[in-house]
Amino acid sequence: MNNTTAIHAGDQKKSDWGQSTVPVYQTVSYSYKTAKELEAVFSGRALGHIYSRISNPTTAVLERRLAGLEGAVGCIATASGMAAISAVVLGLLKSGDHIVASSGLFGGTISLFNDTCTRMGITTHYIDVADTDNFARALTPRTKLLFVETIGNPKMDVPDIPAVAELARQAGIPLVVDSTVTPPVTPRMKALGADILIHSTTKFINGHGTAMGGAILDTGRYDWANSSFETVKPFKQAGQLAFLAYLRNGSYRDLGGCAAPMNSFLMLQSLETLPLRMTQHLANARRLATFLRDAPEVDWVNYPGLPDSPFADRIDRLLDGQAGAILTFGLGSKERSFRFLDSVKLARNMTNLGDAKTLVIHPASTIFHEFDQEQQTQMGVAEDTIRVSVGLEDADDIVADFAQALALAVREAV
Ligand SMILES: Cc1ncc(COP(=O)(O)O)c(C=O)c1O
Repeated sequence: MNNTTAIHAGDQKKSDWGQSTVPVYQTVSYSYKTAKELEAVFSGRALGHIYSRISNPTTAVLERRLAGLEGAVGCIATASGMAAISAVVLGLLKSGDHIVASSGLFGGTISLFNDTCTRMGITTHYIDVADTDNFARALTPRTKLLFVETIGNPKMDVPDIPAVAELARQAGIPLVVDSTVTPPVTPRMKALGADILIHSTTKFINGHGTAMGGAILDTGRYDWANSSFETVKPFKQAGQLAFLAYLRNGSYRDLGGCAAPMNSFLMLQSLETLPLRMTQHLANARRLATFLRDAPEVDWVNYPGLPDSPFADRIDRLLDGQAGAILTFGLGSKERSFRFLDSVKLARNMTNLGDAKTLVIHPASTIFHEFDQEQQTQMGVAEDTIRVSVGLEDADDIVADFAQALALAVREAV
């Protein structure tokens, strides 16, 4: 747990008033006394903010805090998780390049890879992360990055990150890890071997459904100076910060997915309680998963923290037994699943995850509705799948709500 870092890191305490929170610098631009000073900032010879699409003082505190929590060399905060992924992928790859990615990724990431990236000539090969050899088999001379989620949403599959990182190292390409489902309460992704970390801060980091945001972090492991990424090379004088310097002066700036200062403030506020909240999210998820496993109405449960999950060993070995707060389960048919969703009283039927409130959704008809059945199966989505983001309510109340909704879902079916 990293409570102190979550509350204090990155705040330079430069204050005229002794305020206890980070001020919201709700400004687009920044004035300088002399033309020479502004020239120096534009050319990178002096530090300073120019325009809030590139950087902002409130967002800079958030960036330093997230970097502190992940033990990263630096961070760029973005407008959303998708803005973070787009800036990384479109910033690094060009037509003809290739990605090897987990088949269990979030649907929006798969849409980005399949639609926007394909139109730009970037192709993606999806593999089942259960067998790490699948990564090696999918690599081609054109593969420029590997992309996984720590725990796939909603497939709930867990890649063996150290083994995948070793393959990436041998191939000389970066491993990009979307760690949205496992937010940084302890800095473990760097030690496991991630080169670039992604967060949708919209989820657990914000935790209250009040602001969209994302983050790109460089763990400092990848050797940019000796890489094949021509776009990053001009920034090699920035050393380990070369990639982030390139993004800030390249795809992040050009694509325009900057974090709004007010949203950065909300993220900073939420971060203060992230470690405490995660303890409760994790305990509630485990309790609900166990209840669903034992409930006679439930056909199947997919939670990597259950002892019979094929990923239980990786959860223990890599994630200190913390299996996240997302799970899926099925009731045997879409009709029953819909009746369950119509019957919950406490849980909310909505998209999003990582909220203080427990959220439920039918992925096949919503987040994944654009994909055909074969693609959905590959992504871990069945027609009866219900995804749950387990919230912070009292565990007894969540279980009681699910119990009454399960009884109704099954009773009305006969
Ligand atoms: C694992 C994961 N990555 C990225 C995203 C995209 O984040 P955002 O909605 O903030 O763009 C999501 C959204 O659900 C997600 O679940």
